[in-house]
Amino acid sequence: MDNFTFHNPVRLIFGQGQIAQLSKEIPTGARVLFAFGGGSIKTNGVYDQVVAALQGAGLHWAEFAGIEPNPRYETLMQAVELARREKLDFILAVGGGSVADGCKFIAAAIPFVGDPWDILAKRARITQAVPMGIVLTLPATGSEMNCFAVVSRDETHEKLSFGHPAVWPKFSVLDPHSTYSLPPRQLGNGIVDAYVHVLEQYLTFPAAAPLTDRLAEAVLSTLVEIAPRAMANPPDYQARANLMWCAAMALNGLVGSGVPQDWATHYIGHELTALSGIDHARTLAAIWPGVMALKFEAKKAKLAQYAERVWNIRDGSEDERALAAIAKTRAFFESVGVPTGLSSYDLPADIAAQIAGRLAARHQAPLGEHGDIDSAMVKRIVEAA
Ligand code: NZQ
Ligand code: ZN
Repeated sequence: MDNFTFHNPVRLIFGQGQIAQLSKEIPTGARVLFAFGGGSIKTNGVYDQVVAALQGAGLHWAEFAGIEPNPRYETLMQAVELARREKLDFILAVGGGSVADGCKFIAAAIPFVGDPWDILAKRARITQAVPMGIVLTLPATGSEMNCFAVVSRDETHEKLSFGHPAVWPKFSVLDPHSTYSLPPRQLGNGIVDAYVHVLEQYLTFPAAAPLTDRLAEAVLSTLVEIAPRAMANPPDYQARANLMWCAAMALNGLVGSGVPQDWATHYIGHELTALSGIDHARTLAAIWPGVMALKFEAKKAKLAQYAERVWNIRDGSEDERALAAIAKTRAFFESVGVPTGLSSYDLPADIAAQIAGRLAARHQAPLGEHGDIDSAMVKRIVEAA
């Protein structure tokens, strides 16, 4: 088991009716930037619950609407200007991962001296951020319980991430009812995103960390078990509740404690979204088979463990079990409406070279748990996907 520090300071407020707790969580006298997306919260009742809580606490707030999926730097900077102008000192993000991530960037950018794009492009040092909280309406990214954010920029077609302890949410409210309005596409995306978060922390090589392995396997098995009910309409409260809890657990640091990690699928997927606009989770399901194909030898011991413990595959050689687990995983993603591999997308012929070139230019390859996925390997992975 590797050395690790585990620290997660997010206060998670979970369950039906819990949005009302906002009134206790936001500091008295705060001037709140209430930020949200394209309007889903206005039709599903979440907006009204948030307004009631803010009013009940006698808080001053300013609204900022229109944070898009794959939040755009250009839009987020408008919120930064609003917050600076109106001296807002607390940020409330209400929506999916894009709103949560966008608000983490806004929180860091408000006090930043210099060009805030450098936070993403140059990993510029952050010393402080405006405190923030989240009301999550889409279980997927884990942003509600981590200090990472991913931001896109139109001008350069870039999608870049940053992480910093200053942008830990002070709290996140997770009410499963707020997911009832999600379309099937977003539910499927959410299940796949959470699942791949765990896979990227788990499918490496055995590292003498049986507890961490079993925590990861618990999240994976639970997602497989609840997925059909989580996709169902009318919504099933218990399935939605467990989906929300799984997604938060998938990327809050716990299942990555003491083990090697491989974020190749995510890094390649982010480039694919930046170039093509394909939804985040869909890029993961598209690229993951390519990573498994090219890194099969290095991962097959862990794949065989995954086969047995998550898919109950016990027969055959190690290779056969590992391959069967890959096939089961692809079928699972397809069962929630998310295509696997790249064949269902209409992409330029040189997409593999473009992605490899962009990662190399950013010095982001080599990727993988062994640091051996260089840009030539990235190209082969995309070609194999
Ligand atoms: O904008 P609105 O109107 O709210 O509509 C959104 C959006 O169109 C809609 N939606 C959200 N909650 C809803 C709802 N529709 C109906 N009912 C609800 N309850 O869903 C659409 C997609 O929302 P978005 O926030 O973009 O989805 P998601 O949560 O999947 O977030 C994706 C973003 O998170 C990043 C991704 O790269 C992408 O930019 N990620 C963030 C991570 C992190 N912070 O740790 C890790 C992830 O790997 C990921 O990279
Ligand atoms: Zn993800």
